[in-house]
Amino acid sequence: MAAITEPGLDRDGLLAWYRRNRERTASLFALIDDDAYVAQPIPLRHPFVFYDGHLPAFSLLTLNERALGEEPVDPALERLFERGIDPESAHAAASLTRTDWPSRAAVEAFARACDERVERAIAHGRIVDAEMPRLARGQAVFTLLEHEQMHHETLAYIVHRLDEASKGRVRQEHHDGALAAPRMRTVDAGVATLGAQRDAIPFGWDNEFGCHEVDVPAFSMQHRPVTNGDWLTFVAAGGPVPPFWVRRDGEFFLRAMFDELPLPRSWPVYVTHRDAAAYAAWKRMRLPTEAEFHRAAFATPHGHDRPYPWGDGAPNPMYGNFDFERFDPEPVDAHPAGTSAWGIDDLIGNGWEWTATPFQPFPGFEPMASYPQYSADFFDGKHYVLKGASPVTGRELIRRSFRNWFYADYPYLFAKFRLVA
Ligand code: AVJ
Ligand code: FE
Repeated sequence: MAAITEPGLDRDGLLAWYRRNRERTASLFALIDDDAYVAQPIPLRHPFVFYDGHLPAFSLLTLNERALGEEPVDPALERLFERGIDPESAHAAASLTRTDWPSRAAVEAFARACDERVERAIAHGRIVDAEMPRLARGQAVFTLLEHEQMHHETLAYIVHRLDEASKGRVRQEHHDGALAAPRMRTVDAGVATLGAQRDAIPFGWDNEFGCHEVDVPAFSMQHRPVTNGDWLTFVAAGGPVPPFWVRRDGEFFLRAMFDELPLPRSWPVYVTHRDAAAYAAWKRMRLPTEAEFHRAAFATPHGHDRPYPWGDGAPNPMYGNFDFERFDPEPVDAHPAGTSAWGIDDLIGNGWEWTATPFQPFPGFEPMASYPQYSADFFDGKHYVLKGASPVTGRELIRRSFRNWFYADYPYLFAKFRLVA
């Protein structure tokens, strides 16, 4: 049968990835004081305690129980921690709030029991089976590994919002400097290739398939993202103050991960989609579509596409600010090695980039076996596609077909933007 010819996976590599993920989760939780464990610094998300249980519960449910048919560890805790929330408003969130969370010790004991089972399955279980949709090409294992990495980012957003007195501190250097005004780079008319072919990548989420082409007329795009310095002129003209800014004694400061900094003018401004669109209208320009982002990042003047803006090289810190090299942004011109074929900088890293495109399925979309609600629940026309990566996006998530999405007014994202005309 076909299952016999299915190529095996590198179990050691996957196990190492799982342990790396768990260590990063532990290092994020190590930043949180005990009394903040049930705190909910982002009212639209559950408190920290939920995520401590959610990650191991999701992994156990996805791989051991649903894919391999194993017994639960603790059915009540698994139900409690099965799925997060994405309410549209703080008002809607209030009805989802609960206060009867288990203790930190109880959650950590549960997590250890799950880890043991998940690690055993990765090391010895039948994790690839072409006949079983959840196991075809090892889907369930990749699902739980990338899921945990996405939550590293969610956790970083929540730690960012936690008040200084309740969290530890990681020392980081910050640089700011003079910057040239944004220049408009022309991107020729041509084909944008969106999505991925199923067999072309080891794993992709359901919303990344299938691969298709879109004709994109010529456009011009700012060669770097809009910065805090650029945004100051908008505020002076009556524009909104970004959610990451704090005003004290008439001066603006940036609320960074662990510090409040005199506003770094050369860093990308993190704003909501709604505010970015207002800035674009004020400048008489607009946000790029998802297809335009693809042209700017992955197409070349010679016609062939590349996997990354900089070419073929696997993501590394030379190319951009991602993979937890730091928690905060950097100047938008810090990575000339990451420039695209059109001379456009900082497309991957330093903050996700908002697009004008509502999050919708690609032609031929099918909900994935391991997590059918992953995307399907969010095709409501109210979420917008973001591309690229933020400082706290793991390098394994950096691939051209990866699509992120959030509500237009979600204020806690590490998300930047740039304009096109
Ligand atoms: C893809 C980042 C929008 O955090 O809401 C995590 C990822 N889905 N657990 C989110 C996700 C379920 C999702 N985003
Ligand atoms: Fe989740």
